[in-house]
Amino acid sequence: MKWPMHGANPQYIYEKTNLEMPVDAIDFSANINPLGPPPILLEMWNDLFQTVHLYPDPFASRLKEKISNKYGLHPKQLLIGNGAAEIISLLGRILAGKKVLLLQPAFSEYEEVCRINQCDIHHHYLSAETGWELIPSKLEKDIRHVDAIFLCNPNNPTGIYYPKQIVEELLAICKKNNCYVILDEAFYDFVIGYEDMLPLLKKFSNLIVIRSMTKMYSIPGIRLGYVVASEELIVQLQQFQSQWSINGIALRVGELLMGQETFQNKTQSYIEEEKERLFSFFRKAQFAYSNSAANYYLLRDTRLTDQKDFLTFLLNNGIIARHTYNYPSLEGEWLRFAIKSRLENQQLQGVVAKWKQSHPLSL
Ligand SMILES: Cc1ncc(COP(=O)(O)O)c(C=O)c1O
Repeated sequence: MKWPMHGANPQYIYEKTNLEMPVDAIDFSANINPLGPPPILLEMWNDLFQTVHLYPDPFASRLKEKISNKYGLHPKQLLIGNGAAEIISLLGRILAGKKVLLLQPAFSEYEEVCRINQCDIHHHYLSAETGWELIPSKLEKDIRHVDAIFLCNPNNPTGIYYPKQIVEELLAICKKNNCYVILDEAFYDFVIGYEDMLPLLKKFSNLIVIRSMTKMYSIPGIRLGYVVASEELIVQLQQFQSQWSINGIALRVGELLMGQETFQNKTQSYIEEEKERLFSFFRKAQFAYSNSAANYYLLRDTRLTDQKDFLTFLLNNGIIARHTYNYPSLEGEWLRFAIKSRLENQQLQGVVAKWKQSHPLSL
């Protein structure tokens, strides 16, 4: 079967599996903040309408200034994207025909974009048995032969967070071997105790950091992300971006979101509390889960190798999980779930309990 490429838009997984989507189905396949967008967006919604009749600033100057002030950067180190997805696709253009190393399991878009740009794609597999541990020295042999490596931190789909020391070790090996590190921090703002990696840009000109505003601020419909890198690289990336790629509402929304630390802290606490409750439930139910630092996690019924029956049961009961068939090394042996609201997480627990009850023996 051809599974949907990504989470979200759950109608497609029901279509592909020939199942009927319950009207009250809950989508756990998109990793978006369950608290919804910060209230300021609704308060300012009418004002945002004022931007509709104007062409957006093609240089995104005001937003760049706000981001660079917040993180101690120079605006020339920044490019704003129509979602982090656009940034990944622009990076694909400059990687065209080059050798790229992907740490698997990884966000599937890296491979897709590299494939379209005829990159020579190599994989290094992190293992579930070691909790997807990353040991940079073990990569050195592979790194010698590639031009760039993608590292997602915390990783999607596992949620594993690699501390700064590991990232720095990887950067040092890559620098020695003229290899770029593309550090995708789409979910960094969910990590409690996250260590700021941006200062590493001063020491490592081979570092490229991608960020998304979609996840924390629950604005996947607006499309907003950015990349931080050397000035020269930003100039190169910009050449491939279409004019006015980021719409005026998105730019204004980005500016409003720059001062939302309280919202971010509230979200982190909420997610942490839900995660503890969920993981305690899964432990008791003898399910395996990834030790996620993010707002999503991998889960598996250890009695199954392929989780298809479990996934189908969930879909029939209105719970939409993200399959992992297009994650090399996971290959359907895990399912990914977003951490959602208390009530929704409880509904998930209810359906998982029902699955265990109706499938009590070894499968
Ligand atoms: C790891 C990772 N990077 C980038 C993106 C793209 O984010 P955006 O919605 O900002 O385009 C996603 C979206 O799921 C993601 O999971």
